[in-house]
Amino acid sequence: MPERIDSDTPAHVAIIMDGNGRWAAQRGLPRSAGHRRGVETVRHITREARQLDIHYLTLFSFSSENWQRPQHEVHFLLQLLERFIEADLAELHTQDVRLRVLGRRAELSPKLRRLIDHAENLTAENTSQQLQIAFNYGGREEIADAAARLAVRAAAGTLDPKAITPAVFAAELLTAGVPEPDLLIRTGGEYRISNFLLWQCAYTEFYFSDTLWPNFTRADLDEALAVYAKRERRFGRVNTQEGGGA
Ligand code: IPE
Ligand code: IPE
Ligand code: MG
Repeated sequence: MPERIDSDTPAHVAIIMDGNGRWAAQRGLPRSAGHRRGVETVRHITREARQLDIHYLTLFSFSSENWQRPQHEVHFLLQLLERFIEADLAELHTQDVRLRVLGRRAELSPKLRRLIDHAENLTAENTSQQLQIAFNYGGREEIADAAARLAVRAAAGTLDPKAITPAVFAAELLTAGVPEPDLLIRTGGEYRISNFLLWQCAYTEFYFSDTLWPNFTRADLDEALAVYAKRERRFGRVNTQEGGGA
């Protein structure tokens, strides 16, 4: 996918929505209250991103590693995705938003899989914004699954292993056809990637916010975008202003 070298507005923003549990703990509430509040922020930020002409928004909402949380929390998060799709799909469709869910489906319940399929099919032709929810998503898993599919084709003799380039590989990922994130925001004050979009973030700009996700507002997003606009993306080249001398 082409890079947006000169644009001040990122075409694709990815967000690691972190800090729901701490938001709840600060208020003496159960972690689930933080997750519920986090969904409100998802609604708000999705709308604001649309206004800002951010075409792709990818939100990390459940990682491959999050299954290791207490069973009741895992159950709550699975239910929350179900409820989000049930409650918001019609509105997203009206707003011409294409919804996609990135992650392994096999571990999800048949009901949730059906809901996701329905949401993706219903909104497949929408073009105003693409909202990608990374759910049961892990970057390593995505890469390993892509490698396994390519290996099957190579073993069957339909793919020459020498033809496997980064572009061929990227076309096997869950994000095939989607430009790489220009900006990755992580809320909640942690400075790590936690297995999110490992392949896709090779040249993404990173922005870390101390704001806990339920408190994240348009002003926080504006701040991240202002910082992004000042960054100089070089993609391994030299600064265009200094182009001449060696
Ligand atoms: C992010 O908030 C949501 C998920 C990972 C599901 P956390 O639940 O990780 O909140 P903290 O980091 O414990 O505050
Ligand atoms: C990353 O947050 C995953 C999501 C936001 C869904 P975590 O809270 O799971 O990450 P770690 O455990 O702090 O690295
Ligand atoms: Mg966390």
